[in-house]
Amino acid sequence: MVVRVDLSISLDGFATTTDQTPELPFGEDWSRLVSAFAATRTVRERVFKDMSGEERPYGVVLPAINTTGVDDEYAKAYFANVGAEIIGAGMFGLHNFPDDPNWRGWWGDEPPFQCPVFVLTHNPRPSIEMSGGTTFRFLNTNIEDALHQAFGAAKGKDVRVGGGPTVVRDFLKAGLVDRLHVAIAPILLGRGIRLWDDLRGLEAGYSVKAETAESGTIHVTFQR
Ligand SMILES: NC(=O)c1ccc[n+]([C@@H]2O[C@H](COP(=O)([O-])OP(=O)(O)OC[C@H]3O[C@@H](n4cnc5c(N)ncnc54)[C@H](OP(=O)(O)O)[C@@H]3O)[C@@H](O)[C@H]2O)c1
Repeated sequence: MVVRVDLSISLDGFATTTDQTPELPFGEDWSRLVSAFAATRTVRERVFKDMSGEERPYGVVLPAINTTGVDDEYAKAYFANVGAEIIGAGMFGLHNFPDDPNWRGWWGDEPPFQCPVFVLTHNPRPSIEMSGGTTFRFLNTNIEDALHQAFGAAKGKDVRVGGGPTVVRDFLKAGLVDRLHVAIAPILLGRGIRLWDDLRGLEAGYSVKAETAESGTIHVTFQR
């Protein structure tokens, strides 16, 4: 049972995007940031319910899809053995819909988590049960207690701190993360919330591995 983080960041270190508009609620930058992850066969099937399996690899003119290379190996690992997840109010979307008691998050009727998800917020609300095994539970507590509750729910599996960067940084600063995987997309965002701020010397105590995927994404893993 380990505490894991898996995040996508830009070359300049940003884990959030800033070009959202009412017409384009995710903006264009979000799809640039996660395009390699979203193109993997694992994500196509699990998140987008695309079972066609037809692969279009990198190196052709059209965007790659259903990829089965290095990015897909990381995508498979991303979904494996997670028993509970902790996320922040920002990642759930509470900051955008603070006054809507019926807001059920960005993640659709059948969110991809498929486990208990603990949402850290100073404005907790009743739990929401979604289809596919995801339950959102809202906690106003410190990160150590959130972790204790998540391990209690994880049934012997790992706990992922899913994001966003504000919550992830708190767990990293407190030394609570056993494995940090960052997928560094070969794009520049120029602004947003940076993952690495105030984490000088974070690498101490971890062994570090880096691998470059066909998409140009660099997967860096810090493992205790
Ligand atoms: N790049 C990636 O892989 C990735 C992954 C996930 C998410 N994201 C992006 O990250 C963004 C959100 O990140 P973010 O950094 O802005 O926010 P966040 O980390 O999701 O949430 C931070 C908020 O959570 C609440 N919170 C944190 N710790 C708490 C505690 N101990 N007790 C009670 N409440 C606590 C606070 O909100 P309140 O005080 O308002 O309650 C705080 O402002 C989204 O845009 C999402 O798209 C990116």
